[in-house]
Amino acid sequence: MRLLITGAAGQIGQELIHAFHARGDEVVAADLRPRVAGAPDEAAWHTLDVTDSAACVDLCTRTRPDAVVHLAAILSARAEEERETAYRVNEAGTRHVLEACRRAGVPNLFFASSIAVFGPGLPQPVGDDAPTRPTTLYGVTKVIGEMLGEYHAQHCGLDFRAIRFPGLISDAEPGRGTSDYAVHMFRQGVRTGRYEAYCRPDTRIPLMYMPDAVRAVLELIDAPKNELRRCVYNIAAMSPTAQELAIVIAARTGAKITFKPDPARQAILDSWPQSLDDRHAREDWGWRPRYDLDAMAKEMISHLQSPPEAIRVGAKLPAA
Ligand code: SER
Repeated sequence: MRLLITGAAGQIGQELIHAFHARGDEVVAADLRPRVAGAPDEAAWHTLDVTDSAACVDLCTRTRPDAVVHLAAILSARAEEERETAYRVNEAGTRHVLEACRRAGVPNLFFASSIAVFGPGLPQPVGDDAPTRPTTLYGVTKVIGEMLGEYHAQHCGLDFRAIRFPGLISDAEPGRGTSDYAVHMFRQGVRTGRYEAYCRPDTRIPLMYMPDAVRAVLELIDAPKNELRRCVYNIAAMSPTAQELAIVIAARTGAKITFKPDPARQAILDSWPQSLDDRHAREDWGWRPRYDLDAMAKEMISHLQSPPEAIRVGAKLPAA
């Protein structure tokens, strides 16, 4: 299978390139940013600005992928500070990629959606069909992406599949999302022995370790169409509070993790679900997370304590 990945240099993209390559897929990576260090030589790397609609059509037409994996996006904290960029990348960019698939005859598109499609006040855990009334611009653009994708599935014959990712934890530098505190606790905790989190200790959002997220993408892309009852799925793994996460990291590293809430980012975190109901993903395509909080912490800390040439998180999928 030939896969064109937009946002290939991002937190998820870097890991997916390796996962697709490892199982024999042909990867066409696309990003505004240069080729990431360590990307397999066999993966072609194209400069792509998704805000340029003609460039999206051109790349899809020239490379003729079997599927596009559309990850390019401005994350939540940055989107609030750079609204114009978020409109152009998240809303227009997704529209351009969908239209490019239609015009180039690409039959399949995977879209990275988010817990951020949900807003405050929902009963927990939040199910797939809960109202999507986000209060962040990032969340609004993800709802638009889901709806445009479903429109293309209904009217243009596209096989559109999407996952609403929890906050994802990997050893890569995060890209100004709001769940970044969880990644920084690990990175700073291991590297400097201390981290001051920008959230309250009782902050609780759904989190997931990257190898589970990568495996979910592969499993949903591979799932037989007739077994999928919907296009967009919640997936869940764990929902520790920031304090619970800090305790686990401190116990393994001795790091001193403190809390100094930033009102803007705290408001975003408080608007998101505390936990997700992922029963449809479990029923339709057999989704199961493999990492709980302890298993994630053990592996993340050992990766961060290893020399840089050690195997990257997500490059080697965990055994079943
Ligand atoms: N992790 C993302 C963010 O924090 C949400 O999907 O922006």
